[in-house]
Amino acid sequence: MERLSALGAWREYARVQRASGRRIGLVPTMGALHAGHSSLFEAARSNGDLVLATIFVNPRQFNDAGDLMKYPRTPELDHHSAEQHGVGCLVEPTLEEMWPDYPNPTATTVSVRGISDTLEGAGRPGHFDGVASVVAKLFAVTGPCRAYFGEKDFQQIAVIRQMVRDLALDVEIVSCPIVRDGDGLAFSSRNVLLSPEARARGVALSRALRDVQKTRGCASVQRRRMREVLEESGIDVAYAEVVDPITLVPTGDDEVGERRALIAGIIDGVRLIDNAAVFVEARGT
Ligand code: PAF
Repeated sequence: MERLSALGAWREYARVQRASGRRIGLVPTMGALHAGHSSLFEAARSNGDLVLATIFVNPRQFNDAGDLMKYPRTPELDHHSAEQHGVGCLVEPTLEEMWPDYPNPTATTVSVRGISDTLEGAGRPGHFDGVASVVAKLFAVTGPCRAYFGEKDFQQIAVIRQMVRDLALDVEIVSCPIVRDGDGLAFSSRNVLLSPEARARGVALSRALRDVQKTRGCASVQRRRMREVLEESGIDVAYAEVVDPITLVPTGDDEVGERRALIAGIIDGVRLIDNAAVFVEARGT
């Protein structure tokens, strides 16, 4: 496995690979790799891509300094895991190269308005500007590629797809299914921050989604049901929403069809998110 850090060397590596006929499968990560990330590496490999993974804990997407400080970092384990899962090139850019002005703001920010302002964006102001800006930079340095993202961060994928459309970027976005642990909890780098007791309560997120997938009813009924399940487990609910899967506009009670349920809860200061496809019926049917 090739390991790079400098932007110039990374750009040149990607250019040479493309020139030799290889398709790059970019997997952007913030490290603390887990089974969810491995599934992205595997998806890129099974598409025949040369897997180029990045590890960069992007400070611009954290609206809370404490959250950034405690974000898990496991570099040695990450190198081993990347190598084991067939990553061809692991890039770990430095803060100085990614954001030379940090901690001052950059003059240029990518802001995907509307879709960034709801759900996670409402609770974490500026979060998606940080995500869109760093992902745009990863795309710019890597060049034309396929880029793989996990559906656990459903809103993140919607924001990135919108950015790619609006800026006509030469990148194909591949979204990969959520990977869950045996108890149903979606894999997340933040799970290691949970005490065993908090983790047991966290399982309520996937339970709420499974429950609502079986609940017949309109969007309001489904929202209420998810909230009940989360609150019964003592989870501080940030949101429990049912939305259009592309625009993320909340679903009205007169609508019928496939929608996406998204939830976020805070357990002992750790924010967890999850989501699933649901079917809503119009009220009174
Ligand atoms: O999903 C993540 O790990 C991050 O938001 C990403 C896409 C790597 C950007 O920093």
